[in-house]
Amino acid sequence: MDSIWIQGGKRLEGKIPISGAKNAALTLLPCALLTADKLTLSNLPRLADVDSFGHLLNGLGVSTSVAGVKKGEFGRRMTLQASEIASTVAPYDMVRKMRASILVLGPMLARAGESTVSLPGGCAIGDRPIDLHLRALEAIGADIELAAGYVKATAPNGRLPGGDYTFPVVSVGATENALMAAVLATGRSQLFNAAREPEIADLCNLLVAMGGKIDGIGSSHLIIDGVEGLHGADYAVMPDRIEAGSYACAAGITGGSIELVGARAEDMLAITNALAQAGLIVEFCDAGIKVSADGKLRPLALSTAPFPGFPTDMQAQFMAMLAMADGESFLEETIFENRYMHVPELRRMGANIEVRGRSALVHGVEGMTGAQVMATDLRASMSLVLAGLCAEGETEVLRVYHLDRGYERLEEKLSAVGATIERRSTG
Ligand code: EPZ
Repeated sequence: MDSIWIQGGKRLEGKIPISGAKNAALTLLPCALLTADKLTLSNLPRLADVDSFGHLLNGLGVSTSVAGVKKGEFGRRMTLQASEIASTVAPYDMVRKMRASILVLGPMLARAGESTVSLPGGCAIGDRPIDLHLRALEAIGADIELAAGYVKATAPNGRLPGGDYTFPVVSVGATENALMAAVLATGRSQLFNAAREPEIADLCNLLVAMGGKIDGIGSSHLIIDGVEGLHGADYAVMPDRIEAGSYACAAGITGGSIELVGARAEDMLAITNALAQAGLIVEFCDAGIKVSADGKLRPLALSTAPFPGFPTDMQAQFMAMLAMADGESFLEETIFENRYMHVPELRRMGANIEVRGRSALVHGVEGMTGAQVMATDLRASMSLVLAGLCAEGETEVLRVYHLDRGYERLEEKLSAVGATIERRSTG
């Protein structure tokens, strides 16, 4: 297993190219199942989860080919084609490794009239059930049965009729599955209280580019008029707002200045507002967003919320940065029940953080010290890297495979702005 080794204390300055969004890529890839034509996706990030999703799709009969990328360039072009669906079963050993595999349920059902996917089970940050996915698909006309750890969805008469569903809780994945199921229905579907994350709009824009009919894109009320069939498309994945926000925190925690090249301002206003409230200078330019420290960090009160609120995927990174703020910060994690796994490790580096249920009180400290720390989940591992960048001495982040799921060539990008960081093989 690899680890990331960091010598802290360097002020980071320069430009970081922002890659395609992981959480957009993972919902755009399964759209290949919706057509027999070729689907080409560009600006795909080079991430473990993207590769895993490609292998999952191969098992369902989707051919995939990746165009080479010149050295130093980011983003790959992948062409996918599901001439026919070879299997409608997403097996346990694939789904357990990556819960986003559940996103083949809707498109496979829409294309083949049936779909069987292993139940994903929980993960480090919480139980993460899929009941809203199943309720939404039922509302659109699917028959759902659960047996032996699998869910089987079937379209009576081979094609979904369409229907309306109001989400009791905002769910990104359930909205995505419902959209991909409804787009080939015989009739109209309406989704109320649908998730509004930019990745949902990216999915809607791709489906429309493939011939889908969707109104209300970007709102919580989506209207989908099913069509007979979809054709291929050539589509660029949106930039990753969470990667951009993570590197913005690297500027804040090291007292530096980083230009996030390719970051899209409208996707990340809650993040940039929080950065500005913490005392950072945020400048929007054509190339992206420049974030610069400007003296001591100011403490914040932050509560995570569905878009356009402050994203849960930025909570751990802000906590690391606010560990160095001048005063007490209050964080509230409203989306997942166990998303403070980074706290014990940050404490070992000298952070002073109290957790009570879903709330955390972060008492700013003068400095942190490097240590050997353990990554537990993707965003927690990024918060440990951030702490290591400002800590006195050396930090080694173990189980770096968590990072590889969501950050493309992290050590290359951070080295380019002055960090002393390298990947080490721990055998
Ligand atoms: C997506 O997960 C993202 N993953 C997550 O990013 C992100 O944290 C999350 O949305 C919230 O923004 C991908 O897009 C691949 P949800 P998802 O359904 O779709 C509950 C990262 O770090 N819920 O919006 O699984 C659920 O337990 C990852 O990049 C149900 O109760 O999230 C949670 O409390 C982590 N029943 C809340 O809703 C369901 O059927 C929001 O979950 C579905 C969800």
